[in-house]
Amino acid sequence: MSRLVKIPGMVDPHTHLRDLDWSHKATFTSETGAALAGGYWCVFDMPNTPPTTTDAPALATKQRALAAGAVCDYGIYFGAAQRDNTGEYGAVWPETCGLKIFNNATTGDLLIDTQPRRAAHYAAWPAQRLIAVHAEDETVADILALVRQTRKRTHFVHISTAQEIAWLRAAKAEGLPVTVGVCPHHLYLTEDDVPRLRGYGIMKPGLKTKADQAALWQALADGVVDVIESDHAPHSRAEKEGPVPPYGVPGLETTLPLLLTAVAAGRLTLAQVSALVAEQPRRIWGLACPPETYALVDLDAAYVIEAANLHSQCGWSPFEGLRVRGRVVETWLRGQRVYADGRILAQPGSGRDVFGGAV
Ligand code: DOR
Ligand code: ZN
Repeated sequence: MSRLVKIPGMVDPHTHLRDLDWSHKATFTSETGAALAGGYWCVFDMPNTPPTTTDAPALATKQRALAAGAVCDYGIYFGAAQRDNTGEYGAVWPETCGLKIFNNATTGDLLIDTQPRRAAHYAAWPAQRLIAVHAEDETVADILALVRQTRKRTHFVHISTAQEIAWLRAAKAEGLPVTVGVCPHHLYLTEDDVPRLRGYGIMKPGLKTKADQAALWQALADGVVDVIESDHAPHSRAEKEGPVPPYGVPGLETTLPLLLTAVAAGRLTLAQVSALVAEQPRRIWGLACPPETYALVDLDAAYVIEAANLHSQCGWSPFEGLRVRGRVVETWLRGQRVYADGRILAQPGSGRDVFGGAV
């Protein structure tokens, strides 16, 4: 059996595409190619890759490099910096998909770890674009206090624990303007997998308990989770096998197959998956799907995830060896077939900035 369906306009609002000073890890061409192989129309790039996207010249550098290299459409986050860069916000916001604030330690040097400094960034960022926050544990409550004060739209990325879900469920009931993103690795892996995966199982937030994992699946069923985002964060094999593996795992090419496997198992419906990877992110960021832009998916194809079949430059996946059901057969962008039979067909530079950043 081979049931083919189209999923229009998939958006991953949380990726770290690298390139620039970190092109040894990945490039805009390689990772937007991985996005097409994963069925995506559009990905949003995070600001923590050096040179960090925290001032207008760095934003312009990234815009130029993405315009030249991207094969799928994209958006660019601006980053809150430890030095006070709030004076940049008024000019740059129209060209971004939002502001990213790293409120807990992770890859890069953008940590904002005091409440007064977080409050300054919240006050300065214009309300026209949302704020995406990395917040773990009690920091979620700290950020919710700022949302309550300022009413600024806030997307909580990679939520991973039962306690965080409980706070966000309550915040939604209270009517705060918050949305919730969850990553496939927190749905499909737990801390029990770390001894097997070693460096390849290290990311921020880290893998959690089975009880936390169950709370995420329950939150998916209840509609508390708005978006499934990959947190695609490629690092080289050598880095991951070194003494201090950096945080992050790739995910653009495995997110949809993993979710379709949940559909095959009766755990999610196809309509829920389509909402989580396409309709909800488009609604949250106010984007319209371009005509003839979709992933063509075979719901019945069963296979094992293998590094050799992936397009990300990093060349590995924490899900290698996992049997999945659901394959991206083709990806179409504005009427062009841009991915088919395992090959990227789009030319570098064909991707567009969906927020229209000047180049
Ligand atoms: O695991 C992670 N990797 N979490 C983050 O927050 C950043 C990312 C990266 O850039 O490597
Ligand atoms: Zn991230």
